[in-house]
Formats: sequence, C-alpha cells, structure tokens
Amino acid sequence: MSEQKRIPQHVAIIMDGNGRWAELRGKERCEGHAAGVEPVRASLRAAVRHGVKFLTLYAFSTENWGRPAAEVDALMELFCQCVVNEAPELIRQGVRVCMIGERSRFSEKVQKALSEIERQTASGETLTLILALNYSSRSEITRAVQRIAHRVATGELAPEQICEETLSQALDTAPWPDPDLIVRTSGEQRLSNFLLWQASYAELWFPEVLWPDFTEKEFDRAIEEYARRDRRFGLVKGK
Ligand code: IPE
Ligand code: IPE
Ligand code: MG
Repeated sequence: MSEQKRIPQHVAIIMDGNGRWAELRGKERCEGHAAGVEPVRASLRAAVRHGVKFLTLYAFSTENWGRPAAEVDALMELFCQCVVNEAPELIRQGVRVCMIGERSRFSEKVQKALSEIERQTASGETLTLILALNYSSRSEITRAVQRIAHRVATGELAPEQICEETLSQALDTAPWPDPDLIVRTSGEQRLSNFLLWQASYAELWFPEVLWPDFTEKEFDRAIEEYARRDRRFGLVKGK
C-alpha cells in the first residue's frame, strides 16, 4: 500500500446484485449479469487511473453451480464472450489477467477462453486483474492444505517448518499481496466464502448500489472511503 496517497494496492470486489437489478426491471436474471459487464470496465478504468495494482473480482463461486442451469449456462457464455471481446482493450491498458479458483470444472470451451486471455495479456504491467472463477475460500484453503500435506509426506517439509507463509504460498493467491480493501455491492454484509485467509486485515465496505449500477464514481467513493480508514494492524498508533 502506498501510505502517502492512501491508495489501496489491492482492491477486491464481490460483484453482487445482478439478479435483483434485473428483477426490479421485470427482466430475466441473466440480463442483470449482462448489465454487470460495463461496471467491470468502469472499475478497471478507475483502478488504473488511481494506480491500483491488483483488482480481484469475484465472478462465480463454487456454490453458484447450484443455481438454475439456464443461469449457469448464460454466465459461462458471458465469460467466454467477455474474454474474447475485451482482450484488445485489456492489452491496450496494460492489464494482465489471471485466475483463481478451480478451472478444471469448467467446460473445455471456457477453459480455453481463460487460458487464451491469460496468454494474450501476460506482459501487462499496469494492473493485474484476478478473476475468481469457480472460487471459494474454503476450497482454496483445502487444496492448499493438500499441497502442504503432500510435501510433508514426501519428506520435503517437516511439520514444524509450516508457518503462515507456507499456507499463504500454497494458496491460489500466492503471487499477490493480500487485499487492502474488499467492496461488496448490493448492501449484503458478508464475505460468502471469498478470500477468508487473505481478508484478515482488509478494510471492508458495503455500498448499497447494485453491481450493474456501479460506476467509476462509485469506485472513486470506495477509494475515498479507504483513505478515511485508520489501519492499525493490532498496534498502537504513534508508538
Ligand atoms: C452476483 O449477482 C453475480 C453472481 C453471483 C454470478 P447475483 O446473481 O448474486 O445477484 P442477486 O444477489 O441475486 O441480486
Ligand atoms: C457471492 O455472491 C458470489 C459472487 C458475487 C460471485 P452470492 O450472491 O452468490 O452470495 P450469497 O448467496 O448472497 O451469499
Ligand atoms: Mg447475490
């Protein structure tokens, strides 16, 4: 985090409220998801403008597979369309796209589209966009523990050598710093299985706005809100 300007280095967003946005307008829930694409573009523009280095977006949870098949299918189609359509603009902005979550559950088509956008944007240095897809924190932590257990079983690691860093490094998010600010739209005040380990000292903000109505201005508000927070990390100020 850059202390001087009080700009969060890493912002994570739980993009919630697409369904309610659509229902309020008498539309299908899927139309709410489609309307959620422009706010992604707006957030990216604003993040780049503020000098945010990492933007994580919670786009699909492991629990979201339990939604009606038509909604899941529409979301998968939307992911594929987006990564293809947005590629030129992402490259232009210097955005590098990465993914967290278990991609093996996605269809081959979706997996291909994701690998392709990661490959195309691999040299982006302005901002890293981390898409949480088929992601849940408990699943991520469970997979991390399995990796560590494997290292112990093969004798590469002794149990007493396991420290917080060992777990951090075994998570999908290993390459990046923890989020400084987590925003959840739509007024819901919960994390819904998102970055539970990484959120230990994150500032949380829960604006009422539904995700399809989220604009660059809303992102600016999040940055302003963050600048007002007093992060103490368990210490006493000025001592
Ligand atoms: C978030 O919006 C998008 C996904 C979970 C994929 P929702 O679809 O959860 O919208 P609400 O919460 O039903 O309004
Ligand atoms: C969290 O939203 C997941 C995403 C935004 C992708 P949900 O709408 O699925 O979460 P709950 O059901 O309200 O907790
Ligand atoms: Mg929701």
